[in-house]
Amino acid sequence: MFTLIRSYWPEYRHYRGKLLLSFFAMLLVAGASAGIAWMMKPLLDEIFLNKNTTMLYVLPLLILLAYLAKGVGSYVQQYSMTFVGQDIVRKVRDRLLEHLLHLDLAFFHHHHSGELISRISSDIGRIQGAVSSNVATLVRESMTAVALIGIVVYQSPYLAFITLVVIPASYIPVDMISRRLRRISHDAQARNADLTASLSEMFANVEAIKAYHTESFEAGRFARSNQACLDVSMKSVRFAELVVPIMEFFSSISGAVVIAVGGRQVIDGELTVGAFFSFLTALFMAVDPIRRLSQTLAQFQDAIAAHERIQSMMTLNPEVKSGDQALHDVDSIQFDAVSLAYGDKEALHTVDLAVKKGEVIALVGNSGGGKSSITSLLLRFFDASNGVVRVNGQDIRDYSFVSVRSRIAIVTQRVHIFNDSIAANVAYGAPLDEARVIAALKKANIWEHVAGMPEGLHTQLNEAGTNLSGGQRQRIAIARALFRDPRVLILDEATSALDNQSEAAILETIRALAPDIITVVIAHRLKSVEIADRIYLIQNGRVVCQGGKAELMRDCIHFRELYQ
Ligand SMILES: Nc1ncnc2c1ncn2[C@@H]1O[C@H](COP(=O)(O)OP(=O)(O)OP(=O)(O)O)[C@@H](O)[C@H]1O
Ligand SMILES: [Mg+2]
Repeated sequence: MFTLIRSYWPEYRHYRGKLLLSFFAMLLVAGASAGIAWMMKPLLDEIFLNKNTTMLYVLPLLILLAYLAKGVGSYVQQYSMTFVGQDIVRKVRDRLLEHLLHLDLAFFHHHHSGELISRISSDIGRIQGAVSSNVATLVRESMTAVALIGIVVYQSPYLAFITLVVIPASYIPVDMISRRLRRISHDAQARNADLTASLSEMFANVEAIKAYHTESFEAGRFARSNQACLDVSMKSVRFAELVVPIMEFFSSISGAVVIAVGGRQVIDGELTVGAFFSFLTALFMAVDPIRRLSQTLAQFQDAIAAHERIQSMMTLNPEVKSGDQALHDVDSIQFDAVSLAYGDKEALHTVDLAVKKGEVIALVGNSGGGKSSITSLLLRFFDASNGVVRVNGQDIRDYSFVSVRSRIAIVTQRVHIFNDSIAANVAYGAPLDEARVIAALKKANIWEHVAGMPEGLHTQLNEAGTNLSGGQRQRIAIARALFRDPRVLILDEATSALDNQSEAAILETIRALAPDIITVVIAHRLKSVEIADRIYLIQNGRVVCQGGKAELMRDCIHFRELYQ
């Protein structure tokens, strides 16, 4: 628990004023509570036994004041601590997201999006309580408990001694339960993440679910995870809800003992009735803060589990690291005996390849051969496990991510459309220059279509891009790449969904751009690779043939097999 608080300690620095205010508010609450208990003594002794009429006016007023102070104090404290907690959570959430987005692509291949969403939304939320209201509760209730126990001891040290032995004993079972709860909470949160994961997967694949009419299959699968979630959460309730009854039972034991022993003392005249009732009031009032303390400790277990999972992600570092040089123009790209392994599976073996500005190269070959892996190396999604990828003769790892990725644009078969206007989708992240957007759309051969839409450039697209056809989405993606005015353009089956005419238009665009840039085309159709100056045939991670189309047709048996 202290490690949890300590790791958020630096955050508290920014909230000194609020924390100080909160602290005084807590003092007020604790003081008022103790005052209320203390007033029981004059109440009984002065008003009821001595029939003191001044006290009859003064005491009710004091009680009102004490409750008012308690109310104001707890309101101010709750408000300011909640603010501190929520604000810290907001910052941690920003930081976690930023951290995750900068991790390697491989990380995202290994973690389900639902799991990540659950980290960022619910896990961080769980910490909120711990860093704000729970810490406050801990401090406030401890102060209140101490103040009340002070009254207890002050009124009758002897009785206090008896009860204060019984109450701490009740902590032993409570502590055992807390430990158990922590383990269950780990499990519960993991299952919750599974649930979110399966939901996000389902909604992302809803077309497939409908096409294979697996609605009931998916619903059944979900129902099972949902049930498992409930089971774990009920298990945790089973333990958590034991805490209060156990505490109460132990308090009642001490209550019974106190009445017996204290009653005897009052009868014997060793204690006034007022002091006895003040003692009793303070004791019973102390049960509440102590109970809340133990509940808070249980909630901390939950937060600690969430914190540990968040920390495990925060400590991950990207393996592919940005260099510090800026890449401006690209004159040449060269692969020197490059190998690439995904885990222990080698996808590329000693690939050699060279391309200069003004050239168009094509990568062809059977599916799974390693074509896209070559482009991943150029974008530095992964680093070569052996050999060097050189840009302008220099190791590509020396250049910064930002400059590499702003100079090299890729369009793949998988088109990513964001919930925004067409214009924003094309300019994506860059300032929105309409003239340039239109120019890019024209080059991508889709401007006529966009101009014909009722809202033109400002037509809203949705994430799934359902208001565009597959080929139209592909052309939006091509426009996005062209908008950035790239020095290297990679089209990885980017025209696969286009009709012959649209494809021809785009090939025409590429031909026009080609003299100033490096173009890498990956395609299955022979027609799309015809514009290439050189074709590389990649099979099982190796370059098996390279050369012009006519040359390959003549000399390379694998190429002939592929296209005949
Ligand atoms: N992120 C990844 N993690 C693990 N293995 C991968 C990953 N990406 C690709 N592979 C594997 O590497 C090999 C080459 O894949 P790659 O995507 O480069 O092939 P490709 O030539 O582009 O195929 P296609 O024509 O089907 O797009 C394949 O066997 C594939 O299973
Ligand atoms: Mg591919």
